[in-house]
Amino acid sequence: MLRRSRIQSLSPALWSRHMSVVAKSLKYTEHGEPQDVLKLVEDELSDPKGKQVLVKILAAPINPADINTIQGKYPVKPKFPAVAGNEFVGEVICVGENVKDLKEGQHVIPLATGLGTWTTHAVYNADQLLAVSKKVGLAEAATVTVNPCTAYRMLKDFVHLCPGDTVIQNGANSAVGQAVHQLCRAWGINSIGIVRDRPEIAELKEMLKCLGATEILTEAEIRTSDIFKTGKVKKPRLAFNCVGGKSATEVSRHLDHKGILVTYGGMSREPVTVATGPLIFKDIAFRGFWMTRWSKENYNAPERSEMFKEIFGLMENGKFVAPAHEMVPLEKFKDAAAAALNFKGFTGKKFILDMSK
Ligand SMILES: NC(=O)c1ccc[n+]([C@@H]2O[C@H](COP(=O)([O-])OP(=O)(O)OC[C@H]3O[C@@H](n4cnc5c(N)ncnc54)[C@H](OP(=O)(O)O)[C@@H]3O)[C@@H](O)[C@H]2O)c1
Repeated sequence: MLRRSRIQSLSPALWSRHMSVVAKSLKYTEHGEPQDVLKLVEDELSDPKGKQVLVKILAAPINPADINTIQGKYPVKPKFPAVAGNEFVGEVICVGENVKDLKEGQHVIPLATGLGTWTTHAVYNADQLLAVSKKVGLAEAATVTVNPCTAYRMLKDFVHLCPGDTVIQNGANSAVGQAVHQLCRAWGINSIGIVRDRPEIAELKEMLKCLGATEILTEAEIRTSDIFKTGKVKKPRLAFNCVGGKSATEVSRHLDHKGILVTYGGMSREPVTVATGPLIFKDIAFRGFWMTRWSKENYNAPERSEMFKEIFGLMENGKFVAPAHEMVPLEKFKDAAAAALNFKGFTGKKFILDMSK
């Protein structure tokens, strides 16, 4: 791999003749558990041509969907050999002769999905990338396109919420859950979260309230809580479910008349079950949401630019932070991938592969 100082010392005219970058990537050639099928391999990259961009990846998170994709349990099916990973923040190293909107040194994130991002370097097309201000932190930029955007769309696209309205969600400490609390705080919406009980529940509640949650209750506490009966907060018109099973049923019971429950994940691997009474007498509705579909359908839509502008604005002003996380070197991917889908314990934090050094 060319050293950074060597890369910077090359004049643009010399790029085509002298540049040879070796990428270290986590690749797989068959589906299976990440620790079994991912291999750290080196590939020499060719120079970016035309509308291509050579990017040094700085950080790339491990999301549940990335693991499910490697396992072959996700609707996104990569072509083998595939580089794992979907999100990243990177730095532009150099651009092809027809690239006008991106330049060396800029930070970029993916506009396209499934690019293969668990790598030190990659060549992408310019229209697959979005420039992002360096005022946005690396962890925030690396994790923006999936979870904060999912939270943003689910809050905007199902129910017209006004300040003082309420949303309720399970998995309220997930990365999406943390994004929901922060957007709700920014928009004056009450955010009620349900989490699994654990020894560190007091610290977890405090952390989520600091992010903007109005109230955090355990699965047992929500069953007996009078939070909505006393009128302390309005009954929710919108609910988010990333767990399924009884947890989803419990969340839907608290919806107001004509409320909507949006399912975006199934962490318990149990189907969503519906209580018959609220379905009939309150006319509640059940919907699903998938960010990948929305991003493809709205690739160049003004709503997408507006969304990024608003989220980056909050991040630059310190009003929106990355989920609780740990940065891990690319070489430690096996431990991080196993910990990221630990079904027996509590998740606690997101793992972000750190290639910035
Ligand atoms: N549809 C979409 O477009 C979309 C977008 C983003 C994310 N997602 C999905 O949303 C889910 C969360 O993603 P994320 O990145 O926010 O996850 P994350 O930060 O890794 O958090 C995982 C969450 O799931 C909870 N959880 C794990 N196993 C559970 C179980 N058996 N029962 C109940 N809760 C359990 C964890 O709670 P504990 O702390 O109690 O373990 C934690 O709140 C995933 O299923 C992901 O694929 C979907």
